[in-house]
Amino acid sequence: MKNKVAVITGASSGIGMELARLFAADGYDLIVTARRAELLQKLSEELMNAHGTSVRIIPMDIAQPYAGEALWKAISEITPNIEVLVNNAGVGDASDFSTESPEVIERMIQLNISTLTSLTRYALPQMLSRGKGKILNVASLAGYQSGGPGMAVYYATKSYVLSFSRSLGNELSRSGVSVTVLCPGATATEFEQTAGAEKTLLFNWSKPMDAKTVALAGYRGMQRGCGEVVPGWMNKFLAVSPRFTPTSMVLAINRALLARRN
Ligand SMILES: NC(=O)c1ccc[n+]([C@@H]2O[C@H](COP(=O)([O-])OP(=O)(O)OC[C@H]3O[C@@H](n4cnc5c(N)ncnc54)[C@H](OP(=O)(O)O)[C@@H]3O)[C@@H](O)[C@H]2O)c1
Repeated sequence: MKNKVAVITGASSGIGMELARLFAADGYDLIVTARRAELLQKLSEELMNAHGTSVRIIPMDIAQPYAGEALWKAISEITPNIEVLVNNAGVGDASDFSTESPEVIERMIQLNISTLTSLTRYALPQMLSRGKGKILNVASLAGYQSGGPGMAVYYATKSYVLSFSRSLGNELSRSGVSVTVLCPGATATEFEQTAGAEKTLLFNWSKPMDAKTVALAGYRGMQRGCGEVVPGWMNKFLAVSPRFTPTSMVLAINRALLARRN
């Protein structure tokens, strides 16, 4: 790989795929990962033909214990130096906690929290030794909320990503390594279906943003070294409003937004 290298998790669809297109158009080489190898391969061919991008694919399930370590090992075998790490892969599950599948919960926490954290830990030393690098974590507008009854675990995982990214960004200030957290609101991707959220008011009260717009906001924010990026004016309002609203009211509103209709 001759150019700067960006690693993107969850690049087989949605926001991650759009981010891959933006990095490639800007001259980065890419290491992309997700479970669906055929989609990664298709993306790799598209980017190679459009921009001459060198793309390496790592098909891997990173919702497994110690996936961060395994993924970093696979990345290191390709190149020891990565310029950008994008922790984008994530899943949600619109379920009441008492009936939610324990396996789904374990995998969600592993993917959204543990793998994101350990992969960041493994990637940091080589960035710090070169005095430069960028980390882009994909959280959610959910991270700003007091909670999400009907999607409690997902909301909590995204609060973790937001809090972790803020703290890490502060720890790394003046190191040359920046940390940006992208917090999208409802976005038109496969997430809506895979999270079982298509029948919630959250995804129906207004048109979800498109993944390309969300990715571009995150990409630009990361390149400028912004700490937090919330795409869209309504989402910006929804990110700050819980600070001025009683917690019980935020929870009641979110419960209504996340209730599933038949
Ligand atoms: N869409 C929204 O409304 C929304 C709003 C706020 C935040 N977000 C966040 O945005 C991020 C991207 O989601 P998206 O909306 O673009 O959804 P998406 O289209 O479903 O993309 C999710 C990506 O994560 C990958 N992934 C899922 N499970 C994985 C696993 N076990 N191992 C490896 N990769 C896995 C998927 O690839 P494979 O299936 O091929 O493995 C896919 O590439 C997520 O962190 C999500 O929480 C989304």
